Amino acid sequence: MRLLIVGGGGREHALAWKLSKDKPSIEIIAAPGNPGIATLGRCAAVSTDDIPGIVALAKTERPEMVVIGPEAPLAAGMSDALRAAGFAVFGPSRLAARIESSKSFAKALMREAGVPTARAVRCVDVESARRAAREFGTPVVIKASGLAAGKGVLVCDTMADAERAIDAMLRDDSFGPAGRELLVEEWMAGEEISLFAITDGKTVLPMLAAQDHKRLLDGDRGPNTGGMGAYAPVSLSSEALVEDAVERVFQPTLGALRAAGAPFSGLLYAGLMLTPQGAKVVEFNCRFGDPETEAILPLLESSLLEPMLAVAKGEGLSGKALKWSRECAVTTVVAADGYPDRVRKGDPIELPPREPNIHVFHSGTGIDADGNLIATGGRVFAVTAVASTLAEARRASVRVAESVRLEGKQLRTDIGWREQERSAGATGD
Ligand code: AMP
Ligand code: GLY
Repeated sequence: MRLLIVGGGGREHALAWKLSKDKPSIEIIAAPGNPGIATLGRCAAVSTDDIPGIVALAKTERPEMVVIGPEAPLAAGMSDALRAAGFAVFGPSRLAARIESSKSFAKALMREAGVPTARAVRCVDVESARRAAREFGTPVVIKASGLAAGKGVLVCDTMADAERAIDAMLRDDSFGPAGRELLVEEWMAGEEISLFAITDGKTVLPMLAAQDHKRLLDGDRGPNTGGMGAYAPVSLSSEALVEDAVERVFQPTLGALRAAGAPFSGLLYAGLMLTPQGAKVVEFNCRFGDPETEAILPLLESSLLEPMLAVAKGEGLSGKALKWSRECAVTTVVAADGYPDRVRKGDPIELPPREPNIHVFHSGTGIDADGNLIATGGRVFAVTAVASTLAEARRASVRVAESVRLEGKQLRTDIGWREQERSAGATGD
């Protein structure tokens, strides 16, 4: 069986690893892939934004399924183009991907479907946005409606900050088209979890919840990033909470998408804020999260290939279930010097020897003209350790991440700290 994976980050490396583990005879082709994925299959030099190029590659390779990793090609309609050419695709259509690519669409859909989320006002002019911000009061959240590579959300503690954010988006065009429409949103207090579900549009297979760490530095300080680490499981995510999220978040959202003529199939990611009034949606993404995927897939004991193929082929998910290990996983991201602002690229890398229960997923790596492994992206590796306790997994993940040789590398040493504090509290430590 041949699979085509579109993307070249840690998420796609983790997907390629798990899918090959599920079926060792599988042949993986990745576009563009990365040197980590190249150890599991072949990489084709086609960019994720080249829809005709990916369709042409699929026509040459004839994969049984195409898995689209990142949001941008989904938002641009890559799955529609591949389906029109006759391929089975894991990933939503362009219209369904609006659940991520247009925050104002997602918010209106949630409102209609009665899905719990923060109140928000959609604005396209400075005056009405300022008025809405004043009405909500601080802290207030200003969100670019379009895709902004994780940088389009500003949590503003003062009205002056909110006004600056509004001006930057609507007056100065600093966020480009993504910020020409924005949401002024009520701030929600609470802890956030990432809950993924594989879905055929009707049946929902929830995965293990994870918690992302978006800030650059230990203690959740420093600038926001694409994610510096993640862990799973999260004890806050009880079976009851997941059941409740399936009933009150996933099912009504999928129903509303069907009713809007945009049925969703693929991976639906809910960012949930656990507020005193229950779980509320912070955002939806239309694809696997990064780095959460690198944390949860090593804990998945049952096949990922089977449900993904069933969704891609339109065979439905009813009767399928996922089985999880009882162990803990911690993923520590190794980022390049200067990340997230001025990333230094091209530095050589030396990796430590392989170890059992440690996965070094490549996120931003390449090979230079002399055949050496070099850093090519802001997040360079996602190092996942699996162990029987969270503390042990964190220690192993940090130890291996520290031993990656890359000049100026940055990493957090405290991934999972909230969970560790909770368990210390529970045992009275
Ligand atoms: P998003 O891209 O919508 O997930 O937003 C990025 C981050 O901003 C989230 O992970 C939250 O930590 C924070 N955030 C977004 N919306 C809110 C909100 N309404 N209240 C509090 N924090 C928020
Ligand atoms: N970890 C956040 C994201 O994938 O968007």
